[in-house]
Amino acid sequence: MESFAGKTALITGGASGIGFAAAQAFAAAGADVAIADIDQQGGEIAASSLPNTHFFRADLTSEAETVAMFEAAAAALDKIDILVNNAGIQYIAPIEEFPPDQWRRIIDMMVTAPFLLTRAALPGMYLRKWGRIINIGSAHSLIASAYKSAYVTAKHGLLGLTRVTALEAAPHGVTCNCVCPSYVRTPLVDKQIAAQAKAHNIPEDEVVEKIMTAESPIHRLLEPQEIADAILYLCSPSASGITGSAFTIDCGWSAH
Ligand SMILES: NC(=O)c1ccc[n+]([C@@H]2O[C@H](COP(=O)([O-])OP(=O)(O)OC[C@H]3O[C@@H](n4cnc5c(N)ncnc54)[C@H](O)[C@@H]3O)[C@@H](O)[C@H]2O)c1
Repeated sequence: MESFAGKTALITGGASGIGFAAAQAFAAAGADVAIADIDQQGGEIAASSLPNTHFFRADLTSEAETVAMFEAAAAALDKIDILVNNAGIQYIAPIEEFPPDQWRRIIDMMVTAPFLLTRAALPGMYLRKWGRIINIGSAHSLIASAYKSAYVTAKHGLLGLTRVTALEAAPHGVTCNCVCPSYVRTPLVDKQIAAQAKAHNIPEDEVVEKIMTAESPIHRLLEPQEIADAILYLCSPSASGITGSAFTIDCGWSAH
């Protein structure tokens, strides 16, 4: 396993799912880790279960809380070498019924917060001539699904931010990539199974096979550890030539 001793990693949404798996992997590889999350209790439990890991509470829909969290994490860890923009939520509804406040919440958390954190992290990375920014996109950074207008828009936007960051940061030793998974077995997906069953009017046990993985040649959910492994790879020396990529781990979904 690659050692990340001496490196620091800030992971948003690190209290659960993919973010927690990434925090576990970085902590096991020797990095100092900051978990940022809106979930105070979950974040404290997650951080206390890992070595060299701190928790910072922030609602990433708030610019003030996002910026203050970054400053607190950078002060506690002394620097931020690796930024993983991971926090995300889903909301499922047809466009004509989609609540505008849910639209704004998703765009604020999943596009604006990554921009604010990238903006805050780059100067220190440029100074040290090394940095890795991993944006957790989705297969929905590349393709669309009905009833997910805000999520698909946010994930396409995050891939755009990734590409611009890669272009600007390359001369400074900083890479930026967008990891694009298909469905991963996390609480976010558990909630969607129930919502999709309602939207498509089918039983919940048919949702994974008939809706979620129907278009993929490999019909299974991914595990959070598989995404964490890809994140660490993209931060490793072997991946120093990879930047601006849509790094798909999607069971072949987007191969169509
Ligand atoms: N699970 C999947 O199938 C899947 C597939 C592709 C992409 N993704 C993406 O991976 C990322 C993580 O998803 P997950 O499945 O691990 O979800 P999850 O629900 O397990 O974890 C998301 C975390 O984000 C936190 N969060 C939610 N709102 C927040 C806010 N306003 N401020 C700060 N933190 C907040 C939650 O408390 C939670 O800890 C998301 O961006 C998601 O879109 C997930």
